[in-house]
Amino acid sequence: MTHALKHVLPATWCDAQGISIGGVPLSQLADRFGTPLYIIDERHVESRLRGFREAFGPEAGLVYAGKAFLCGALVQLLDREGWLIDAVSAGELELAHRAGLDASRIVMHGNAKTDEELAQAVRLGVGRVVVDHLQEIDLLVEQNRRFGRADRPMRVLLRLNIDLAPETHAKVTTVGPTAHFGMEPETASEAARRVSAAEGLTLGGVHIHAGSQIRDLRVFRRAGEALVEFVAPLRDRFAETVELDVGGGLAVPYLAEDQAPEAREYAEAIVEGLGEARASERLGAYRILVEPGRSVIANGGVTLYRVQARKTLPGLGQVLAVDGGLSDNPRPSLYDARYEILNGSRAHAKHDTPFRVVGRHCESGDVIAPSVLLPAETDRGDLIVLPVTGAYVYAMSSRYNGVGRAPVVFVRDGAPRLVVRGETHDDLLACDVELS
Ligand code: LLP
Repeated sequence: MTHALKHVLPATWCDAQGISIGGVPLSQLADRFGTPLYIIDERHVESRLRGFREAFGPEAGLVYAGKAFLCGALVQLLDREGWLIDAVSAGELELAHRAGLDASRIVMHGNAKTDEELAQAVRLGVGRVVVDHLQEIDLLVEQNRRFGRADRPMRVLLRLNIDLAPETHAKVTTVGPTAHFGMEPETASEAARRVSAAEGLTLGGVHIHAGSQIRDLRVFRRAGEALVEFVAPLRDRFAETVELDVGGGLAVPYLAEDQAPEAREYAEAIVEGLGEARASERLGAYRILVEPGRSVIANGGVTLYRVQARKTLPGLGQVLAVDGGLSDNPRPSLYDARYEILNGSRAHAKHDTPFRVVGRHCESGDVIAPSVLLPAETDRGDLIVLPVTGAYVYAMSSRYNGVGRAPVVFVRDGAPRLVVRGETHDDLLACDVELS
């Protein structure tokens, strides 16, 4: 069964006897840490990080998009591997900072940065701020005047909105007429003029992020070209080495039949786009930055649930209700995301009987998978594995229905390591001033 899913599962997934990840049996993880449980295969993530480095070469700036998933242990892994981090809020900044990442390795994003967030970014000394709109320039100058270092100008990238027409879910398309991010070229040219003239700022480069879960490599090729076309006529305004940040967005496989490009093909597409636009000749010194999130970590993670109820309903057939759902993974509800599902307790039984797998929350939209094949004998107490949940799952979790967030465990070489503990009732109630 799992053979057909190999490209979807964590690298160290093994089902020789029971299922194990990182050399640790799933049953052991469930017994020790409980369910629901997010499991991340550290070797898988590490090898993805190295794959990107190999594909892009030593000079490129590899920036992990922290919004996909972030915790102290991951920041340390990224740091060891020489990656930068894209932070999009004061909270993410604080996390990366407390985990020991040098602030110069942080790229600060956001389309609605508050004064406090800009102040914190400047105070910590982040390496780059990606400016989304014209008003932000004055705000940044102001905070930089208050907290910046006179000997070190703040490096600014401009976020462009050029329609690259990516084919992906509308909710994660971030360029084109309906996207509210960045500046179209005319406004961005004005921003380039203002930043290059501003006190304490350096115009370091440009950025574009077309969207997420993009399969068509031509989009990334066009992104490279579009950045060069924008910068070339304004080249004098930019720093000596101009940074071309092509954002993230590379797709990953979720289902057995899905195919997704390799990091190498992704890098080649970008380099081709730059070549097509004659980047070296027109820009002189430049450096590529890339911001993958999902493609680094999605397939390295799985979520483990336990079946709490099995019933037969006239309209829906066999239904399995598990101990998580909408609160730990809102993606099916938000994007109609589809997943493969495996019975982690009966890995070797034939997965041939259709079930509807639902969550525990009080709404009919809490369906993890409307119809999946599982062993006929699947029942209460069985472990259910949902693959490809390393990205945008824990990160988007909530406490709906008073269910605390589930813990996150890293597994590596036969050893599990709790990296984020689960939320207790005390955590849940800590902010309620009448109770605490
Ligand atoms: N850079 C910027 C500026 C971004 O906004 C994003 C993602 C990335 C990089 C990383 O993109 P990735 O390589 O992960 O595709 N919650 C949605 C995905 C939202 C993506 C947000 N921005 C989901 O669950 O599908």
